[in-house]
Amino acid sequence: MQGKKVSDSETIMTEMIMPNDTNPLHNLMGGNLLRWMDIAAGICAGKHCNTHIATVSVDHVSFKKPIPLGNVITIKALVTRAFNTSVEVYVEVSFSDIKGQNPKHSNDAYFTFVGIDDISHRPLKVPEVVPITMEEKRRYDAALKRRDLRMLMSGRLKAKDAKELKTLFEV
Ligand SMILES: CC(C)(COP(=O)(O)OP(=O)(O)OC[C@H]1O[C@@H](n2cnc3c(N)ncnc32)[C@H](O)[C@@H]1OP(=O)(O)O)[C@@H](O)C(=O)NCCC(=O)NCCS
Repeated sequence: MQGKKVSDSETIMTEMIMPNDTNPLHNLMGGNLLRWMDIAAGICAGKHCNTHIATVSVDHVSFKKPIPLGNVITIKALVTRAFNTSVEVYVEVSFSDIKGQNPKHSNDAYFTFVGIDDISHRPLKVPEVVPITMEEKRRYDAALKRRDLRMLMSGRLKAKDAKELKTLFEV
């Protein structure tokens, strides 16, 4: 199976924060942002895998700044690395007023998706990611450590087998 470039599936989604999207403080409700991040990341993963996908994991997400009613958010999703049947997607969120002035970074997160076969609904092999830029290569290399960490946290990997994480503590 031929590898695919990050740019082949890059996905950018914009939304204006409407009254229905907010919490009682008139800022975007966290759950609505997570939903939009999942949609943007899922479209990106689906384009990369050329098939239906399912979300299997969302890494730590922190909400650094409130996003006020009437602002416009931009959600950018990029594949970082594919494993066997799964692919990791980096999602970055920024926001600004309608004039586009003073854009601010608000969130980022890593999502993991599994390519799903149309008929059996079972995981299916996905294409490799071919990193080209320095940033893409940096995220590609670091993806193995993030994978070990999420496998450890989800109980799919034992601490003694987390080889990539051990290198973090070696001098
Ligand atoms: C996706 C699903 C079909 C995978 O089935 P499974 O029996 O777990 O299949 P596998 O054990 O072969 O795992 C499939 C891939 O997911 C990865 N995976 C599973 N759990 C994971 C986790 N917590 N974090 C990261 N990757 C994970 C595995 O490493 C494997 O990837 P790889 O082949 O690249 O190594 C099944 O877990 C499922 O249906 N989950 C629910 C998905 C869903 O409904 N998402 C929306 C949630 S609201």
